[in-house]
Amino acid sequence: MESPETPKTSRGPKLRPEVEDMHGYSAPLEGRRKLLRLDFNENTIGPSPLVINALKNIRAEEISIYPEYNGLREAFIENLKTAKPPAIIQPTEIGLFNGVDAAIHAVFQAYGERGDYLLTTTPTFGYYTPCAHMQGMKIIAIPYQGKNFSFPIEQIEKTLLEKKPKLLLICNPNNPTGSRLEAHKILELSSNAPNTLVVVDELYEAFTGDSVLPTVDFSKTPNLLVLRSLSKTAGLAGLRMGFSIGNHNVIDKISRVTGPYDVNSLAVTAAFAALKDQAYIDNYVIEVSLARDWIKKQLVATEKKYHIDGGNYLLVWPTNEASKIEASLRASGILVRNMQNKPLIEGALRVSIGTIKQMQKFWEIYSKIDI
Ligand SMILES: Cc1ncc(COP(=O)(O)O)c(C=O)c1O
Repeated sequence: MESPETPKTSRGPKLRPEVEDMHGYSAPLEGRRKLLRLDFNENTIGPSPLVINALKNIRAEEISIYPEYNGLREAFIENLKTAKPPAIIQPTEIGLFNGVDAAIHAVFQAYGERGDYLLTTTPTFGYYTPCAHMQGMKIIAIPYQGKNFSFPIEQIEKTLLEKKPKLLLICNPNNPTGSRLEAHKILELSSNAPNTLVVVDELYEAFTGDSVLPTVDFSKTPNLLVLRSLSKTAGLAGLRMGFSIGNHNVIDKISRVTGPYDVNSLAVTAAFAALKDQAYIDNYVIEVSLARDWIKKQLVATEKKYHIDGGNYLLVWPTNEASKIEASLRASGILVRNMQNKPLIEGALRVSIGTIKQMQKFWEIYSKIDI
C-alpha cells in the first residue's frame, strides 16, 4: 500500500521522462463558430458543394464498417497531374494520414531517437517542437533573416554538414512568415545530406505555387518527404486528411507507426469529392490572391508595418499592444492570432486571408481600432 506521504505526482505508472518534461501543443480552438475566423489559416468559405453532397449521401455501412482506402492514392495522383506544372507520383510513394499533424507525429516516431538533432527554422509551425521533445531529440532552430524573413540557407547548409541532423523540417511557404525556398534549393539540400530526412511541409503551397513535387524524382532523392493536406485550400480541416509523398521505403517506414484505420470513412468520402473538384479549390485560391492584393493596398496606404509573402496569411504590427488589439477584434467578432513569444515577430498579429469581402470587414474594424 502507498504510504500517506507519497507525493501525488509519483502515483501511478511512471511517465517517459521525455513526456514528463514536455509541453503539448495548445491552440485556442474553442468558441470559434459564428465568428470571422482569421486565426488558423483555414478555408473561410467551406468545402466544395460536392463534398457536402457526398457526406449527406453517405451509406450507413460506411459508418458501421472500418474505412477502405482503395483508389484514394490514385485519386490524389490524378489530382496532382492536373497541377500547373503537373507532378507525376506513384501510389507506393503516397502515405495517408489523419491530417498532416499525424504525418509529422509519425515521422518523428519512426526516425527520432533520443539525442538526435532536429534542424529547422524559427519562427515556424509550433507542432514540430513537441514532436521532437517527445522523442528526446535536440532542436536547432535557425532564425529567418533580415526584414523580409529570408530563408537562412547558408546556416542551414553549414549546420547540416556540422551536426548531421536526423531530420530537417522546412515549412514551405513558412507559417507564419510566408518565407519561401525554391525547389532546386530543397533538392540540393537533400542531395548534400543523404543521412538526413528532409521533410517539406507544403501545407500552404497552393496559395503561391511553391511545390517541390513537379521536379523531384524520389528514386534519386530518397531522403526527401513532402507533406500535403486537404485542410486549408479544400476546406476539410474538421475531417482531417493529410498525405505524405516520398520514396516508397520512407512511406513504408512511417506507415509502420500509424494505426491501420487512422483516417476515418467520412474523411475518405470527403477527400474523393474534394479531389474531383479542383476547379472549386482553384477559384478559392484566386479569390484569396485578389484579397491579398486588396488588403496589401490598405496596409501600404495607411503606412502600417506589415509583412506578406507566401501562404494565405499576413503579419501586421499594430501601433498599440497586440493583445489589446486582438481582444478588441474578438469583441467585434473577428479572430486573429497573436504572435506573442514567437522569435523575431513578437508584437505582430497573424491574419489569415479569406475572401475580399471578409478582408473588407476585417479592415473596416481593424482600421478603427488600431489608430
Ligand atoms: C505548417 C502547418 N503544417 C501542418 C498543419 C496541420 O495540418 P493538418 O490540418 O493537415 O493536420 C498546419 C495547421 O495549421 C500548419 O500550419
